[in-house]
Amino acid sequence: HFLRLCEHLDCTPDIWALHDWSTWLTPFFRPGGRRFDTAFYLCCLREPPPVCLDMAEVVSSQWSSPSEATESFLSKEIWLAPPQFYEIRRLANFASLSDLYTFCLDHALEERERWMPITLLTANGAIQLLPGDDLYLEDSDYLEKNLSTEKNTAEIMQEGKTFHRMVLHNRHLYSLHVTFQSKYKHIYPKTYVVSESRL
Ligand SMILES: *[C@@H]1O[C@H](CO)[C@@H](O)[C@H](O)[C@H]1NC(C)=O
Repeated sequence: HFLRLCEHLDCTPDIWALHDWSTWLTPFFRPGGRRFDTAFYLCCLREPPPVCLDMAEVVSSQWSSPSEATESFLSKEIWLAPPQFYEIRRLANFASLSDLYTFCLDHALEERERWMPITLLTANGAIQLLPGDDLYLEDSDYLEKNLSTEKNTAEIMQEGKTFHRMVLHNRHLYSLHVTFQSKYKHIYPKTYVVSESRL
């Protein structure tokens, strides 16, 4: 369909400008729930391009820096799903677009990881565990169920050494805990903990 669309529009999209960045699978939510396999690509542009909204799949668009996007999320102007939040915090590692572009060129041949978070339901909240975390289980059972514990989130956070997880405080408040090093030489976000006053 994509090829036919390009023929119809007589255009050749510059797909070579795209860099593989990451891939996320939707964690289990409820049996039979819809799941997605979502690839993120990175593309560096000199200027913001025109955006055509189809008002179905895309209803608005906005250009923001990683710190602006983080603030807009925390102040409830926009909503980000946990993977989007993670990726925006990952981009915050780069001081400039050219640093990011250089990183993409230097790592063009590295294998990209595909992650499926596992949700750990605690006595008072939820934590999304990512591969590499002490509590992450490489067990296909968790494709179709959540983990759970009687302990509360603070207790769980006191255990373990290697963290690669997001604590979901509420729909607009996540904190990221990352002490894990990448096997595939990708860059990971820094730990990002929201201040007590926001909790
Ligand atoms: C799994 O965890 C999510 C929290 O991310 C929760 O909303 C959902 O109800 C849980 N599903 C089951 C079946 O426990």
